[in-house]
Amino acid sequence: MADTLRFDNRVIIVTGAGSGLGRAYALEFARRGGKIVVNDLGVSRVGEGSSARVADNVVDEIRKLGGTAVANYDSVEFGEKIVKAAIDAFGRIDVIINNAGILRDVSFGKMTDNDWDLIMRVHLGGAFSLTKAAWLKMREQKFGRIINTSSGSGIYGNFGQANYSTAKYGLHGFTLTLAKEGEKNNIRVNTIVPNAASRMTEDILTPDLLRLLTPERVVPLVVYLCHESCQQTGNLYEVAGGFIATMRWQRSPGLYGGENIRAEDIKRRWAEANNYTGNVDYPQAHTDTLQKVMGIIEAEKARPKL
Ligand SMILES: NC(=O)c1ccc[n+]([C@@H]2O[C@H](COP(=O)([O-])OP(=O)(O)OC[C@H]3O[C@@H](n4cnc5c(N)ncnc54)[C@H](O)[C@@H]3O)[C@@H](O)[C@H]2O)c1
Repeated sequence: MADTLRFDNRVIIVTGAGSGLGRAYALEFARRGGKIVVNDLGVSRVGEGSSARVADNVVDEIRKLGGTAVANYDSVEFGEKIVKAAIDAFGRIDVIINNAGILRDVSFGKMTDNDWDLIMRVHLGGAFSLTKAAWLKMREQKFGRIINTSSGSGIYGNFGQANYSTAKYGLHGFTLTLAKEGEKNNIRVNTIVPNAASRMTEDILTPDLLRLLTPERVVPLVVYLCHESCQQTGNLYEVAGGFIATMRWQRSPGLYGGENIRAEDIKRRWAEANNYTGNVDYPQAHTDTLQKVMGIIEAEKARPKL
């Protein structure tokens, strides 16, 4: 089709590309002409063991389709090795899909240091390590597309996932800052919050949902966000079963307690701070907040005293 979004001569690193969502991204980017680094450590859902076969299988699938791919078996914690694999095989890096992930679900009271650290190392540490290793190259070539994978658990919280939700929420903070820092060099960075059938969700979602929520219905958003024609940056998208929507901060009109604000005043007027009706706004930067506060203080000063 004439409007097909192609990735010819683009090099795409997909982490955790041996199964689930990562495998689906890798196959689709390859179908569209991209050269793929299929990264996967081949671990269990809780991050144990390792197997080269997991990445190799996807590379075989891609090659059978006539596509181009190499396997990489390093943990995402070692981003430089993954970048080296891309440079050695293809000479450049255009797109990073930070997708690899594991779970260490346990209620917070029972969470060990290891449950916490491992999740931070893989999700946040992995995205940092790989992105950092590629960042200067993307800046120099004035092109880069990066996807960070968050989760409903990150943006809403979820029982038994204090570690995972912290890391997943943190990944959007990573997106927000890199989107700003990458802007002038045509590096676009976005976050997705997917829902898809995979080994991560096979015992959580109902069979009906699993049938509808295929990874393939998440893939098109990621393809579009990573295409050179897409300028979107710094956004977060929920994506599931073919549904896509963006989300943003909404601020309540708030209350202003003046220079002598007291805890007792806040108690009395608590509903005002938490009320989303009226003059709500949608701040996009810290400076928006400071401007708003200054505006309220100035307006209050200018108000005639009775
Ligand atoms: N499936 C969903 O509904 C859903 C929802 C929210 C977020 N996510 C996120 O989407 C991403 C993909 O999840 P999935 O459902 O496809 O899971 P999955 O378990 O099928 O795939 C994850 C892959 O990452 C690999 N991996 C794990 N640790 C690694 C490491 N240190 N280095 C390299 N590879 C590693 C695993 O071997 C596995 O192949 C994850 O980040 C997950 O947290 C998924």
